[in-house]
Amino acid sequence: MEPIRRIAVSTGGGDAPGLNAVIRAVAIAAFRHGWECIGIRDGYNGLFLPEQYPQGGLIALTPDRVRGITHLGGTILGTTNRGNPMKFPTPQPDGSLAEVDRTDELLGRFREHHIDALISIGGDGSLTIANHFAQKGLRVIGVPKTIDNDLAGTVITFGFDTAVSFATECVDRLHSTAESHGRVMVVEVMGRYAGWIALNTGVSSSSDVILLPEIPYQMEPVLATLRARAAAGKRYAIVIVAEGAKPAGGGHAVIEKRLGAAERLGGAGERVAKDIAEALGQETRHVVLGHLLRGGSPTTFDRLISLRFGAAAVRALAEGQSGIMVALDPPTVRYVPLADATSRMKTVPLDCDTIRTARELGICLGD
Ligand code: F6P
Repeated sequence: MEPIRRIAVSTGGGDAPGLNAVIRAVAIAAFRHGWECIGIRDGYNGLFLPEQYPQGGLIALTPDRVRGITHLGGTILGTTNRGNPMKFPTPQPDGSLAEVDRTDELLGRFREHHIDALISIGGDGSLTIANHFAQKGLRVIGVPKTIDNDLAGTVITFGFDTAVSFATECVDRLHSTAESHGRVMVVEVMGRYAGWIALNTGVSSSSDVILLPEIPYQMEPVLATLRARAAAGKRYAIVIVAEGAKPAGGGHAVIEKRLGAAERLGGAGERVAKDIAEALGQETRHVVLGHLLRGGSPTTFDRLISLRFGAAAVRALAEGQSGIMVALDPPTVRYVPLADATSRMKTVPLDCDTIRTARELGICLGD
């Protein structure tokens, strides 16, 4: 195998706190191996669509360039969740847009720029693309990023801890206003089709009801819980709704279906709030935490696993590995095949300890 001289880093999909810490660890560890490290702007767009980047679509990630970024939210490279090269929205002769697989073209650009290996930092979408590249011969290591924590093969993805910590702080703040006004506060949190953020936030913030995508909900147990609370003299209640929660026999609340990208979820909390207000006649408000959960500085936990993941990704390349993802298997970081990590979504197991804890604490899960 040719020795590595130049590697590229790409951040794809929704951003997550800890991205910059991974970039810093990769850049410094690569430098210490004597490798050049470059960052691709906005997923692969900086490499694939150079005409859109008059200042250059690639950034030299020297140790100087990555100084002081560990604690910063977002990604210095930029990201996109619309640039999937396997389903690239491409104009057709009739003027319409169609999803076209353009990975061979993109792989050609990697060769033109003498990029020997790629570290792809992303969620299931980005890592599926990374796996496709690896199968076509590019040396690739994946790093698991997503606030949703829905990637298989790793106990935790970076960004999740920051999202849950902030969501919990928000709910803590809602308790007092809910109590003052005697209201039901419904809080919608991100997480796509997995309920990790909702479950961990709901239990940590002593919420009364938690609705998850994994448990299609009935309104009756939810209303019964709220009525019992009111009967016990409690003036208010907190209901956490995952954006992917759906009523039994119903569908997800979808805002938009997009070409070349995943559907956008939203509205699940508003739907539940409306049902509660109509059924109980109690004043109800809904709050969508949404993208607030993706912003801000990573927690210490996220910083540390991000730095560990970045260093382990470079270590894996130095060991001659490819087609794998670095993964947290406490207390160590290990490698799992990208194919396994992307073969299924990691949803909340219904018999997991946190679900059992929720039930034992009397939290209603809508079933
Ligand atoms: O995957 C991360 C995530 O934050 C999901 O929880 C959410 O559904 C989605 O991204 C929102 O993405 P967008 O950036 O398109 O609004």
